[in-house]
Amino acid sequence: MEYQNIVVAPTPGVGAFISGVDLSEFDDASLIELKKAFAEYGVLFFRDQQLDESKHIALARRWGEININRFFTPVPGYPEIAQVLKEPEQTANIGGGWHTDHSYDQEPALGSMLYAKEVPPAGGDTLFANCAAAYEALSPGMRATLAGLRAVHSSRHVFGESSSYSNEMSGRLGNAEAATQDAVHPVVIKHPLSGRKTLYVNPAFTLHFEGWTAVESMPLLQQLYNHMMRAEFTYRLQWAPGTLAFWDNRATWHYALNDYQGERRLMHRITLDGGRIAA
Ligand code: SIN
Repeated sequence: MEYQNIVVAPTPGVGAFISGVDLSEFDDASLIELKKAFAEYGVLFFRDQQLDESKHIALARRWGEININRFFTPVPGYPEIAQVLKEPEQTANIGGGWHTDHSYDQEPALGSMLYAKEVPPAGGDTLFANCAAAYEALSPGMRATLAGLRAVHSSRHVFGESSSYSNEMSGRLGNAEAATQDAVHPVVIKHPLSGRKTLYVNPAFTLHFEGWTAVESMPLLQQLYNHMMRAEFTYRLQWAPGTLAFWDNRATWHYALNDYQGERRLMHRITLDGGRIAA
């Protein structure tokens, strides 16, 4: 038996549902298997978890160091937890486009644990995409073209003061003056956990290939994005209160759908420190 302490049910496209584990209390043997499943599937989904703020933080600490988000509003009293909130009267949502978090950092975050507190009666799903499967489906010619290419990523145009996203989000994002990060990463990385080759560019934060202009880069980047968002590499998660998704930023993209106008959606997100990534 590959997994003896947890039940793993892979989802089409990317990810796996995990059952047979209470995330507020589990033994080290289960933790070893959860880490193995995380490396294998890129995003893990859990239903019916009872996690108050302290238990959510304790869960994250069993995995690694918590990365305190610079831009999100924290849950009152818990700086470790970012509030991902859309009120009924607000029109823009957080994360409403394909992206991977923190690619603008020199050492991008490992991933995030997003826990559903309040969800709309319909809508508000999150899409996930499999960046390793997308790489593996490229032609040998395209893979050869991408080998050795590096791309420039930035936070400035998204979280900086003059960005339209920051303006739309007024009140829910802050600290625009801290949007000073730029980083250069290989376009194809060797995933630090799985060892699989993985595409590491995303529409939100990637600006251009190193040594190329943005105009020169855009056709090839757009072609990669169109390929990566193909339906067969994606999974659409329908949330319920108590659902937790834990994604790996180095293996997946995600996209929060904004199709529940007039309803409230509240999620708690804890992000974990990662490390340098390399080809
Ligand atoms: C995010 O991009 O972190 C938010 C995802 C979501 O709310 O589903």
